[in-house]
Amino acid sequence: MYYSDDIIEEVRIKNDIIDVISGYVRLQKKGSSYFGLCPFHNEKSPSFSVSRQKQMYYCFGCGAGGNVFTFLMEYENFSFQEAVKFLADRAGIALPEEEYSKEARQRADLKATLLEINKLAAKYYYAQLRQPQGTAGLKYLKDRQLGDDMLRDFGLGYSNKYSDDLYKYLKGKGYKDDLLVKAGLISYDERQGVYDKFWNRVMFPIMDVNNRVIGFGGRVLGDAKPKYLNSPETAVFDKSRNLYGLNRARRTKKTYFLLCEGYMDVIALHQAGFDNAVASLGTSLTAGHAALIQRYVREVYLTYDSDDAGTRAALRALPILREAGVSAKIIRMEPYKDPDEFIKNQGAQAFEDRIKKARNGFLYSLEVLQRDYDMSSPEGKTDFMKEAARRLAEFTEEIERNNYIEAVAKEYRVGYEELRKLVVRMAVQAGMATPVQRPKSGQNREREREDGIRKSQKILLTWLIEDEKLFRQISEYIVPEDFSDGLYRTVAKLLYKQYEEHEVNPAKIMNHFTDEEQHREVASLFHTKIRELSTPKEREKALKETIIRVKNYSIERAGESWDSADIEGMQRLMKAKSDLQNLQKLHISVN
Ligand code: UTP
Ligand code: MN
Repeated sequence: MYYSDDIIEEVRIKNDIIDVISGYVRLQKKGSSYFGLCPFHNEKSPSFSVSRQKQMYYCFGCGAGGNVFTFLMEYENFSFQEAVKFLADRAGIALPEEEYSKEARQRADLKATLLEINKLAAKYYYAQLRQPQGTAGLKYLKDRQLGDDMLRDFGLGYSNKYSDDLYKYLKGKGYKDDLLVKAGLISYDERQGVYDKFWNRVMFPIMDVNNRVIGFGGRVLGDAKPKYLNSPETAVFDKSRNLYGLNRARRTKKTYFLLCEGYMDVIALHQAGFDNAVASLGTSLTAGHAALIQRYVREVYLTYDSDDAGTRAALRALPILREAGVSAKIIRMEPYKDPDEFIKNQGAQAFEDRIKKARNGFLYSLEVLQRDYDMSSPEGKTDFMKEAARRLAEFTEEIERNNYIEAVAKEYRVGYEELRKLVVRMAVQAGMATPVQRPKSGQNREREREDGIRKSQKILLTWLIEDEKLFRQISEYIVPEDFSDGLYRTVAKLLYKQYEEHEVNPAKIMNHFTDEEQHREVASLFHTKIRELSTPKEREKALKETIIRVKNYSIERAGESWDSADIEGMQRLMKAKSDLQNLQKLHISVN
């Protein structure tokens, strides 16, 4: 951060969050908050809330959240600095000149520096593509029928033929070797010394949802191998949590994403007007990807390659999406290899038709399965139906299961009742009829417990912020150190301090964090959904239980790590234990 905390806070205070967000989202007052349609994911009924009192926004649908700075970072794709500048302008505050001194740069954390390096590299590659030395690259992309607007929008570039071209450029900007290696742009070995990771390739910058360049893919101009090289994972590039094209697709008005395999597919689809295309970039789809998708849409159309590998990848993706609450359909590209080739040959309208004809994921998986059976023989078909029934039994929701049984019965021309009975039989055989809990491994149980405790700590924080009276009651028993998660503890510390100074201000707490993911998390801390507790008695009970739960866990942890030489520590532990005893008898009043 290059501006002082005081200035940042002044800027924030002078820009009321309701006023700012109203410029982008239609808000309606409901109770103490304002609600509107979330600009960060697609929805029909408003779950996006903005609180004047907390000076924060939070979406109960997708979990987007933060203060006024975060909002602009997310909505306008501003960096933090840019958001501060924008809002300072808006409020007529004069900012001091930014100081980009060497010291300031060193102070900025590693992530920010890597992003800075990536941005410079992307700009450099971008410029090279438009220079004489980039002719071959430009010709390659033009031959693949990409228009100028796509080259610009996706920031495509070219890495020169020399193996230390980018290295020299970035060195000239004052970056040390070890940082360039950490950015994944430079490699080092004893024989060759330092050399560029990418050269003589067309470059695809990979951006996160906020348009920040986090890595690169580079394609050879011809048929050489490897076809693509990609940045290694770095402090800012996590392949399993980013999707190529999401920075654009998140703004689509459509209610589903097209999920494909490659860079070129995404760009070709966008060029053809499908602004909802994203790709998982050669890696198979992970739960992280699915969770990311789920923030924006609840449905995905898989447009994987038509070869065996693509089919297998699609089938593997189905349960992962399902688990994340995203339903999936499958679009076939035959007789073409992938969406890029399909569109080149058949055009956008034909692709639109394929979307309309998309197969339901489950039915498609049966279609693939069917290939392994001899469907013309009675035995073959029976075996197939048994396997189908086994898979049908895995739908735990009865309505859904019955709908699928009906669809399968129709498709394979068997009686609905017969199939339903078969499903029940298969379920019994597989031990699924009565929902027997699978024995959980010790590790899982421990993790579940920790999740539970975190949830309790979150609820406690939401209560702490709600009103001073609750704070006074809770803080008699709970200290910031009782929060086990580092982020929670920091937030609690700041909040307690604010109460002490009689200046409670959740949005200011957020200034303490620079990372958008952290903003999201902090906002969620203050917006935990607490079950509607109608009577004060219920509320009291819940509050008491939560306090006891959190304190208990904290004491347990303290006990585990207690150093026997620490007498004072032991005394504190004993006192905490007896306090807890008293608390169990205590009456807390809430209204
Ligand atoms: P494909 O082989 O389907 O490539 O790989 P493509 O996207 O159709 O590329 P073009 O049309 O031949 O240019 C799909 C994705 O898998 C990753 C890339 O992300 C690619 O876009 N991949 C593929 C690699 O990372 N390395 C490779 O060598 C090949
Ligand atoms: Mn292709």
